[in-house]
Amino acid sequence: MLTKSVAALAALLSLANAQSPTERTIPTLSPQVAAAPSLTPTILDPTAPNPQLCPGYKASSLINTTSGFTATLTLAGPACQAYGNDIEFLTLEVQYQTSSRLNVKIYPAYLAPGNQTRYILSPELVLAPTWDGKTGKGNSDLVLTWSNEPTFQFKVSRTGTGEEIFSTYGSVIVFEDQFLELRTSMVDVYGTYPWYQETRYNNTAAGGNTTAHGVYARNAHGQEWLLRNGSLTYRTIGGSFDLYFLSGQDDGGDGASSALETIGQFINGCVGLPAMQMYWTFGFHQCRWGYENISVMQSLVQNYRAANIPLEGVWNDIDIYTLYRDFTNDANTFPVDEMRAFVAQLHADGQHYVPIVDSNIYAPNPENASDAYAPFERAAALGTFIRDPTTGDFYFGDNWPGFSSWADWLVESSQAWWTSELMMWHNDTPFDGIWIDLSEPSSFCAGSCGNGRLDENPVHPPFLLPNDPLQANYNYPEGFNISNATEAASVTAASASQAAILSTTTLLPVPTTTTRGRTEPTPGVRNLNFPPYVLNSVLVGHSLLKGSVAPNATHNDASNTTEYELHNLFGYQISNATYHALLSVFPNKRPFTIGRGTFAGSGKTTAHWGGDNTSTWGSMFLSIAQALTFMMSGLPMFGADICGFSGNTDFDLCSRWMSMSAFFPFYRNHNVKASQADA
Ligand SMILES: *[C@@H]1O[C@H](CO)[C@@H](O)[C@H](O)[C@H]1NC(C)=O
Ligand SMILES: *[C@@H]1O[C@H](CO)[C@@H](O)[C@H](O)[C@H]1NC(C)=O
Ligand SMILES: *[C@@H]1O[C@H](CO)[C@@H](O)[C@H](O)[C@H]1NC(C)=O
Ligand SMILES: *[C@@H]1O[C@H](CO)[C@@H](O)[C@H](O)[C@H]1NC(C)=O
Ligand SMILES: *[C@@H]1O[C@H](CO)[C@@H](O)[C@H](O)[C@H]1NC(C)=O
Ligand SMILES: *[C@@H]1O[C@H](CO)[C@@H](O)[C@H](O)[C@H]1NC(C)=O
Ligand SMILES: *[C@@H]1O[C@H](CO)[C@@H](O)[C@H](O)[C@H]1NC(C)=O
Ligand SMILES: *[C@@H]1O[C@H](CO)[C@@H](O)[C@H](O)[C@H]1NC(C)=O
Ligand SMILES: *[C@@H]1O[C@H](CO)[C@@H](O)[C@H](O)[C@H]1NC(C)=O
Ligand SMILES: *[C@@H]1O[C@H](CO)[C@@H](O)[C@H](O)[C@H]1NC(C)=O
Ligand SMILES: *[C@@H]1O[C@H](CO)[C@@H](O)[C@H](O)[C@H]1NC(C)=O
Ligand SMILES: *[C@@H]1O[C@H](CO)[C@@H](O)[C@H](O)[C@H]1NC(C)=O
Repeated sequence: MLTKSVAALAALLSLANAQSPTERTIPTLSPQVAAAPSLTPTILDPTAPNPQLCPGYKASSLINTTSGFTATLTLAGPACQAYGNDIEFLTLEVQYQTSSRLNVKIYPAYLAPGNQTRYILSPELVLAPTWDGKTGKGNSDLVLTWSNEPTFQFKVSRTGTGEEIFSTYGSVIVFEDQFLELRTSMVDVYGTYPWYQETRYNNTAAGGNTTAHGVYARNAHGQEWLLRNGSLTYRTIGGSFDLYFLSGQDDGGDGASSALETIGQFINGCVGLPAMQMYWTFGFHQCRWGYENISVMQSLVQNYRAANIPLEGVWNDIDIYTLYRDFTNDANTFPVDEMRAFVAQLHADGQHYVPIVDSNIYAPNPENASDAYAPFERAAALGTFIRDPTTGDFYFGDNWPGFSSWADWLVESSQAWWTSELMMWHNDTPFDGIWIDLSEPSSFCAGSCGNGRLDENPVHPPFLLPNDPLQANYNYPEGFNISNATEAASVTAASASQAAILSTTTLLPVPTTTTRGRTEPTPGVRNLNFPPYVLNSVLVGHSLLKGSVAPNATHNDASNTTEYELHNLFGYQISNATYHALLSVFPNKRPFTIGRGTFAGSGKTTAHWGGDNTSTWGSMFLSIAQALTFMMSGLPMFGADICGFSGNTDFDLCSRWMSMSAFFPFYRNHNVKASQADA
């Protein structure tokens, strides 16, 4: 499934022979680089090396092609080992793909088969825009020029006006096994959408035209786009440079460019058009975590009707499940017969039902015959789970139900298993769409922590739940002390008293830390869990091991690709699998699925919500920019949890937010357990 490109192999073999690799010794961090701290973070670490002092590359062996040219890039000095092992020989491919799209690819020229240092995203996994069969340098909106002085650098300009839209001039290209960097000068981010659209305003008296263009960097590794005064630095911890320059010019031939045209070129030409949605999905939906049973659901629906508020969809969070296990029904609170009757009534009234499905699959306790869990057993029999690289067994992380596993979507049978589980569950719980959660994918421990410990299952999540003792939530929106001063005063007192008790109590063991800062590159070795370059992620200690399946967890494809390469694609893949499963559950209907983890191109299969926000005016404000950004990125079916997910909302905020979100394509009120309910 994952093919590694071996283009230009022959050319490079001859080069490699001409200059024996054994003549080159790989130094550790070069003193020159170590001495000059980076001007841009790795996590604002003042001792971090400056990769712009690496030697860069020289281009040679240029070959003109019908659609552009190819060349070899050779490291122009000793390896600098800034945040990884320098790759000595690279292939450059420049292709004028359509009149409005220019592609620049830079990737390791030759590495032994299976060498993970060369991870090229396959077109089956992430759409790779291609040549239209007719464009060349002569009929392109854009032109690439380059220089070898002092080292390889390139710029992309408009053919018509000469406007320079991207330029690495004045900086070096860095290409190491765990670190890639390039910098462009500029005249003036749960998911990953590696592209930007730039608008340059010009309303001078001379009748200057405002211009717009875009750049898409097709790479799914962990990455940073550091926007600084006058420059943009693009850094990623692996893969290749695969840049698509979009002219933003339409076919009119007058050279005019626009933001709208650029966005169209990204969505149409690079990632694919968004999925069409069923009409009802645009209506108002009510959800919360903490609906205790079917009667509560029935009252909810009745109350909306009594208040004459249209309610299109009713949703359930993890409350419906037995012990948080996907595809089950809690026999006491959401029994199958009542579930069927409840949804049948919704359908009779023209309403719809959407339940949650979590991304983790509970791994049952092998010592306890009554703990058997068929969805796991069926997947395990097919070998469709991600693996623990240390034992070769399945990877066992931790989530709501306890130690759990995750499907490996690179295994073809995962789809058939997923479709079949959803079809069977649909008999018990006749849903109209599926909400996929925790698809980053989320894990509550570091590494394959359930390995050898499945006999402890079902373990409790390693934190207290919102309705556990001493976990009352006293957060209210900004200004609550003004809009409801009396209540705010009593909340402040209750909050202080809970904090005082908590300060003297240890409710749970303190979790062990997985934090390690920057590591030194080791010649010939990639450090997957603690790469030399520390991405400025929001997680504690910026750890890649925190909150998700470990980077060294391994897939079942021929190259044993790891989560280091695929992490950002899990959500994209499970949404795709769910979309295809729903096509089987509801033939000839537009599938409705909404997911948390997304990547460029996710809009083809899924809707998206903003994830866990807070009941604050700030979160409401942020959701406007989020919605517009997702629309620009080809995922228009977006909405944020109305009135805020965590914390308590209040009348002022919630009424404003309900009004505002009516203008969003996806319109759902959702709320954490045990806070003041919105509905
Ligand atoms: C490739 O084409 C360019 C013009 O676009 C020309 O200047 C150059 O000499 C050609 N190089 C080779 C190796 O043919
Ligand atoms: C989406 O799922 C379909 C059906 O299983 C599969 O053929 C396709 O390769 C998947 N696409 C991606 C991008 O994973
Ligand atoms: C704005 O347009 C004017 C008129 O064409 C031109 O002279 C000027 O260079 C433009 N300014 C920029 C910053 O592109
Ligand atoms: C940004 O760079 C320009 C040109 O170098 C300089 O004049 C300006 O003061 C800088 N602005 C800030 C906020 O640093
Ligand atoms: C502005 O764009 C129009 C076409 O959209 C073109 O005719 C005109 O020459 C442009 N003006 C400048 C100053 O580039
Ligand atoms: C459902 O849950 C509510 C809220 O906890 C409770 O008051 C009610 O008794 C429950 N109903 C049934 C039938 O269990
Ligand atoms: C075995 O598993 C069942 C179902 O999860 C559970 O109810 C029961 O308490 C477990 N037995 C023991 C001894 O843990
Ligand atoms: C994978 O990562 C875990 C967690 O850091 C570590 O304990 C384990 O040794 C690693 N295994 C391999 C084979 O790298
Ligand atoms: C309300 O709380 C804010 C934030 O804590 C504080 O700045 C403000 O002074 C308070 N206003 C009143 C009227 O107490
Ligand atoms: C004040 O807050 C309390 C608790 O959240 C709520 O019950 C009450 O309705 C609020 N009063 C107003 C005027 O919003
Ligand atoms: C992969 O290729 C790099 C660069 O040639 C080399 O340093 C490294 O040892 C190779 N790793 C493996 C596992 O072959
Ligand atoms: C993948 O892992 C399997 C099982 O550990 C091993 O036999 C195989 O050689 C590995 N393949 C590659 C390309 O590393």
